[in-house]
Amino acid sequence: MAQPRRSPHDYYETETTDHQAETEIILLKHIPLSPDSPSPLQRDAHLQFLIRNLIQGLPSRYISQDASQPWLLFWTLQSFSLMGVAIDPNNKQKAIDTIMAWQHPKGGFGGGPGQAAHLLPTYAAVSALAIVGRPGPGGGWDQIDRRVIFDHRKGVPDGAFLVAHHAEVDVRGTYCLLVTAHLLDMLTLELLEGVPNFIKSCQTYEGGFSSASQPYFSPEPEGPPTLLDSPRPPLGEAHGGYTFCSLASWVMLQPYLSLQEPSVQQPSLNFKTLLRWLVQMQGSEIELGGFKGRTNKLVDGCYSWWVGGCFALLSSLGIIGSHGHDHDHEPTVHQEDEAWDDIDDSLWDRAALQRYILCAGQHPAGGLRDKPPKPADSYHTLYCLAGLSTAQHNVFLSSTRRDAILGCWKIPPASESTQDQLRRACFTHSLSWTEEEGTSHILGSQNNRMVLFTVVFFTSDVADRASMQNATHPVFNL
Ligand code: FPP
Ligand code: ZN
Repeated sequence: MAQPRRSPHDYYETETTDHQAETEIILLKHIPLSPDSPSPLQRDAHLQFLIRNLIQGLPSRYISQDASQPWLLFWTLQSFSLMGVAIDPNNKQKAIDTIMAWQHPKGGFGGGPGQAAHLLPTYAAVSALAIVGRPGPGGGWDQIDRRVIFDHRKGVPDGAFLVAHHAEVDVRGTYCLLVTAHLLDMLTLELLEGVPNFIKSCQTYEGGFSSASQPYFSPEPEGPPTLLDSPRPPLGEAHGGYTFCSLASWVMLQPYLSLQEPSVQQPSLNFKTLLRWLVQMQGSEIELGGFKGRTNKLVDGCYSWWVGGCFALLSSLGIIGSHGHDHDHEPTVHQEDEAWDDIDDSLWDRAALQRYILCAGQHPAGGLRDKPPKPADSYHTLYCLAGLSTAQHNVFLSSTRRDAILGCWKIPPASESTQDQLRRACFTHSLSWTEEEGTSHILGSQNNRMVLFTVVFFTSDVADRASMQNATHPVFNL
């Protein structure tokens, strides 16, 4: 009898290898042998699913998510953006009013009305406002109390941010703070001091990033902070979620790093081990192209974004070319009915990832998921759709464009302070993402096409973001 196909293994059975084998059997049933006929994207079913979750509320077993209301709205609105669905002005206004009710009287957003402010829901709320908000009365953008951004740095001596008062530090906080501060035009030299070092200290021996590094100040709440000698060892294992946060933060820090004195040595990341780790997170042919979040764990739809998105981030840094190859590589033009083998998938398989999302990620009743037979949820719906977009499009900073931008912010008008240079550089950097024409790789019909978006900020409407940054600062003045 023919043996069922299996990923390579060493015949030493453990709970982990059992889970792996069970997952492979299930996935093989969902993903067709013919690679070019994936299930079509069920847009309407996914939209209905998202609306149902948002409007009717979640079943009572989701009570623990009461503190994640901004996240639920962000996942929903961002999924709409990715599918190119416009939101009508009435619903936009409802969303703005809902979001503003989460703002804490002292600034920052909580997980729901009356809840304490926290950096993670603040990121979700401000990103949601980037999609639905507008300047002027009642539009949200001018009503954001910006003071609180600086509180996350208080009492933390070297480059990390507290996610809330008396709470922990980790790279999710770094990413959420940098995106929020970028969107609100709040990045300052003081805020960013030491941040590159903190990110660097989270890179593990595997190449990916862990959540944080060893505490850098004394644990006694009353004592003065005591800095440990660097380098600080990372805390815990490399994980796709933290790797995305670290690398996206690193991309956002580029304007800051380029403004530093050339004589002062800046921290660097080990891109060689990072790239090897990212490539290894891609499931084998049996797992059919999904990504896993850490070594010896299972593939999961949400890592299509957390790990898959890292390739576009590496592209924007010039570490890999737009096709995961050398930088001067000629773009490959893919016609709808062309075979896939003409596409340079030398580092990661864009077609296989799309196949995983379409065939295993889509729940038949609407919404997307981790893997079958799990139910769909709004979190996995967004990050599967975002993974689909990143597998379809080559979004990056072309070297010519990047050099032009670097050049423009290094020759400031005579009167410009370093702080103003930083603001100008960050602004230009945030608007300079592009796609090489004719290089999108859509598996299946054009109906499967996702909207292109800026990988690092994760907002699709660049014009809106520009005017959001220009919104008046009622409380805070730079
Ligand atoms: C492990 O879950 C999950 C983590 C250790 C954290 C993941 C972090 C993110 C997804 C990033 C969040 C980003 C922001 C911006 C808030 P698990 O053990 O259930 O999953 P696994 O087996 O796949 O590791
Ligand atoms: Zn997941």
